[in-house]
Amino acid sequence: MTTRDRLRIAVQKNGRLAEPSLDLLTRCGLKFRQSRDKLFCFGESMPIDLLLVRDDDIPGLIADGVCDLGFVGRNVLTEDALGREGESPFQELRPLGFGGCRLSIALPQETEWSGPQQLAGMRIATTYPHLLGDWLRTNSVNASIVTLSGSVEIAPRLGTADLICDLVSSGATLAANQLKEAVILQRSEAVLASSAELPSDERGDLIELLLRRLDSVVNVRESRLVMLQAPRSALDIIVDLLPGKPQPTVTSIEGSPDDISLQAVCNGSVSWQDLEQMKRAGARSMLVLPVEKMLA
Ligand code: PRP
Ligand code: ZN
Repeated sequence: MTTRDRLRIAVQKNGRLAEPSLDLLTRCGLKFRQSRDKLFCFGESMPIDLLLVRDDDIPGLIADGVCDLGFVGRNVLTEDALGREGESPFQELRPLGFGGCRLSIALPQETEWSGPQQLAGMRIATTYPHLLGDWLRTNSVNASIVTLSGSVEIAPRLGTADLICDLVSSGATLAANQLKEAVILQRSEAVLASSAELPSDERGDLIELLLRRLDSVVNVRESRLVMLQAPRSALDIIVDLLPGKPQPTVTSIEGSPDDISLQAVCNGSVSWQDLEQMKRAGARSMLVLPVEKMLA
């Protein structure tokens, strides 16, 4: 294992994960100065630097020890690991809660889906040949994989494949190409990845520190401060409706003995539906606020 005294993190340069990844690192208190070619970010507040690369290159950079950590889609990490001999050289340190998508098999809209055996003898276009191959083997399906480097969704129209196996997020790409999702192979999101074995020098301590900050940032991001007023008699019902059943602070309202004012930190988002239900239970003047920092 190489030794270095600065930690190096691979981050997607362009694409869906780029901005939320940098945003997360900034919230962890890291500050960077970008190199002129915009490929390298020097860490100014801590000995942690960034390498901005194509997402598909991130697993390789970790496996080769060029980078210690990477912000990458689970799908990209798994695909790379399955393409190697033996055990996966990676570990997923944390799921990050953004970049959610799924790797799915999609069929032309007019085709009925009757199960995996329907795929026997078919040509399936994908940029994830190892994940697809693994799924086909598990389901004992004999199909041929057409590996493409992009624009998979147009393969059925071009006649180079019968169906596709690709990432689906909103579903807009499938719909625009008259395709429909048939079966999900893997649910994915952005993860913080490292090599299977963490470095034992100072970089290990830096990783520990970063993970602690990341956990509290993610915690706070999912927290909401809810404030409302309600009849005292509705208190139990309303607390039941709050996400994560928090322990609220309840105070009485000067001049109206039958009413209370409530304040609670909820772990999880509060939907319009939750608010409407609470309103029906008697709540009013409801406020939902994001939480910036939290220290118990
Ligand atoms: C994926 C996928 C589809 C699209 C699906 O590509 O290949 O083209 O996203 O998203 P939708 O369901 O919201 O329409 P992505 O933009 O992630 O780029 P990449 O596969 O080239 O990395
Ligand atoms: Zn990519």
